[in-house]
Amino acid sequence: MSQHGQLEERRLELSRMADGYRQASVLITAQHLGLFDVLSDGARMCDDLANELALDPRNLDLLLRALVGMDLLSVDNEHRFSLHGLAAEFLAPGAEYFMGDIIEHGYSLMKRWVRMEEVVRSGKPIPRETSGGRSPRELRAFIMGMQNISKLSAEEVADALDLRGVKRILDLGGGPGTYLYSILNRLPDASGAVLDLPDVVEIAQEQAEVEGVADRVDLIPGDMHSTHLGGPWDLIFIGNIIHSWGPETNQRLFQRCAEVLSETGRIAIKDFYLDETGTQPRSGALFSLNMMVNNAEGRSFKRVEVESWLRAAGLTPLGLHHVGTHSGVLVAGKG
Ligand SMILES: C[S@@+](CC[C@H](N)C(=O)[O-])C[C@H]1O[C@@H](n2cnc3c(N)ncnc32)[C@H](O)[C@@H]1O
Repeated sequence: MSQHGQLEERRLELSRMADGYRQASVLITAQHLGLFDVLSDGARMCDDLANELALDPRNLDLLLRALVGMDLLSVDNEHRFSLHGLAAEFLAPGAEYFMGDIIEHGYSLMKRWVRMEEVVRSGKPIPRETSGGRSPRELRAFIMGMQNISKLSAEEVADALDLRGVKRILDLGGGPGTYLYSILNRLPDASGAVLDLPDVVEIAQEQAEVEGVADRVDLIPGDMHSTHLGGPWDLIFIGNIIHSWGPETNQRLFQRCAEVLSETGRIAIKDFYLDETGTQPRSGALFSLNMMVNNAEGRSFKRVEVESWLRAAGLTPLGLHHVGTHSGVLVAGKG
């Protein structure tokens, strides 16, 4: 490539970073407005869609054409728009690997990310719009969003864990219970529990029924920092939780877990683990900012930090299994 061509490539790379918000806004707005849901019923003309969803026809037309440009919709000679490409594969309700909830979750996240400057200046996260925390729609998008992203990695996690002799499993902050249910589907004689906030265990119950494991799952509505954890458990799974809390809180949580593990029990902590420099993988470093705009103490951590809290709780780290593109499961046991 010529020197000029290389210069242009580098300029484009920087532009792509700066423009990322455009495609993200188009996709998330379309999901939030319900365009993909309606189009999953069949092709529509812009005016019909605008009527159905009470939208402005001129501006909807611009949005639809940008979605065609992004290969998420197609348009035929009669000006009817249809789902296309990744949208047809992942955004039609009922798709096996549906991604609509996690994209909808992006709607509330995006409003926080765009205020990052305030957070960096003040040292405080963006407060919630509603006093009671997330609205029902936001909560469902968050929790089912977790299911959308873990549906594939849950199988990898179950592959990575040594499940011999495991009979009782606690999924702490289990959300939709995706990880627990994929493990239970491999262990017909095992049972488990999801401990999560009261509104969330209702979703875990619904998903246990979908996954056909409801008769082997207890739901524990509560607070992971104060509710009695029951036990003894052969496996305590802590998936995508520790990035929400600071070091002291995590260490206390591990201590509480250590107290309710069976003699041969294991704790498995899935999260993003940063390298020694705290900068890689890039997705982990970026995820720290996702926590920064949302809460006061959370962030991604280095493996050595997490291992030090485990040791302080009397647990021995036994190894890290890489799962998906940027996560790991750190396993620890007693003694
Ligand atoms: C990022 S989600 C992870 C869900 C699930 N472990 C997964 O990986 O799919 C964090 C979960 O922690 C739950 N959670 C947050 N604070 C909690 C608390 N104090 N006690 C119990 N659960 C809590 C949330 O409701 C949510 O389900």
